[in-house]
Amino acid sequence: MAVVKQIIPVALGERSYDIVLCPGLLATVGDRLRALTTSPKVGVVTDRHVASHYLQSTLRSLRKAGYDPTPIILPPGERTKTLGTIAKVLDVLARHKFERQSLLLALGGGVIGDITGFAAAIYQRGIPFVQVPTTLVAQVDSSVGGKTGVDHRLGKNLIGAFYQPRAVLIDPLTLRTLPRREWIAGLAEVIKYGIIADKEFFAFLEQEMPAILKLADEPVIHVIKRSCEIKADVVAGDEREADRRRILNYGHTIGHALESLGGYRGLIHGEAVGIGLVQEADLACHMGLCAREVVDRIRSLVQRAGLSEQVSRTAFGPIWKAMQHDKKVVGGQVIGVWPVRIGEVTIRPIEQQICAEWFQSTHGRGRKTPSGSRPGKPSIRRKTRVRK
Ligand SMILES: NC(=O)c1ccc[n+]([C@@H]2O[C@H](COP(=O)([O-])OP(=O)(O)OC[C@H]3O[C@@H](n4cnc5c(N)ncnc54)[C@H](O)[C@@H]3O)[C@@H](O)[C@H]2O)c1
Ligand SMILES: [Zn+2]
Repeated sequence: MAVVKQIIPVALGERSYDIVLCPGLLATVGDRLRALTTSPKVGVVTDRHVASHYLQSTLRSLRKAGYDPTPIILPPGERTKTLGTIAKVLDVLARHKFERQSLLLALGGGVIGDITGFAAAIYQRGIPFVQVPTTLVAQVDSSVGGKTGVDHRLGKNLIGAFYQPRAVLIDPLTLRTLPRREWIAGLAEVIKYGIIADKEFFAFLEQEMPAILKLADEPVIHVIKRSCEIKADVVAGDEREADRRRILNYGHTIGHALESLGGYRGLIHGEAVGIGLVQEADLACHMGLCAREVVDRIRSLVQRAGLSEQVSRTAFGPIWKAMQHDKKVVGGQVIGVWPVRIGEVTIRPIEQQICAEWFQSTHGRGRKTPSGSRPGKPSIRRKTRVRK
């Protein structure tokens, strides 16, 4: 692959930073920290899966650049995202006498990024941290924007802080070892960016999906770059999710509800978001906000990415209840993000009555779904082969 380095600035005043996107970047990660810290101590937080692929090369690069790295290896998976884990990370930092200028490096997916960012936000009231995301979800979404935190037994991401990294260093070559399921789930967030902000990007995804699924270098780099640009742009306009940043929640109202109904053990996040992208477009069409053609294009792209677009058999009541528990509820109202056309969305509350009517008409017993298949059967189309 020809080495192409892309730099995407995230403009947040004194908290501004760069996203550096470069194939093979991991080998030079140590050199890239020089401008970011004066302390030799670097804590490398990672999980066992990621450590088996990338920890040694990262440590080598850090040592070569004169750093004294301390690896902190956590168990993989969402269940690690707890306050208990934060306590353990803080314990290591204190025992190794980390100081105000010592840096934490998050080497892994969104789970590791969220944990590391939160630990960095609260250790000595804030030490620098750098994101080195290794999943597609983390490279296009979770590493950018400064949302950090952990889950509570009563809710996902219930505890956390807005805390920006000093840099996001993306090596797209790390995606080559990512399990196929995780890779495809990340594409749901990518498709979301096209729908909320960029019709040309959506058309690019329609055109290039087969090449993207084969992990072809150029389209994958474009996917990461454009996604980061859109996220950086939205976050720069609304760092703390007061208004515009809410558009990033498109697909997540129904998506989160489905994820929580499965007890976070069924669908993984991106898979639930893929369904949410299609179902929320369908609901928007029912509300008269967009044309049927918009729903059809979204459904077709989601299917071609190998994602499911159907809600499995469930009743309206539990879904509505789960939607109410979402953080997007303001004053008891569920605030949704609705496509108007590809590349443009609008934010407005949903009424229970309208949502129930829509649900009955599309998912009710004996009804045909808009795509013509019977409701209740998840139509997971995974015929496309993906190289890993
Ligand atoms: N902070 C935010 O703005 C934000 C946004 C979206 C999601 N999130 C959070 O991100 C988390 C999900 O992140 P995720 O999807 O990256 O999951 P993850 O971090 O659990 O990673 C998924 C799996 O892939 C493995 N893995 C990671 N990189 C790999 C690689 N290169 N090769 C092989 N295996 C690899 C991990 O060990 C793990 O088993 C959730 O907790 C979610 O709440 C946060
Ligand atoms: Zn998401």
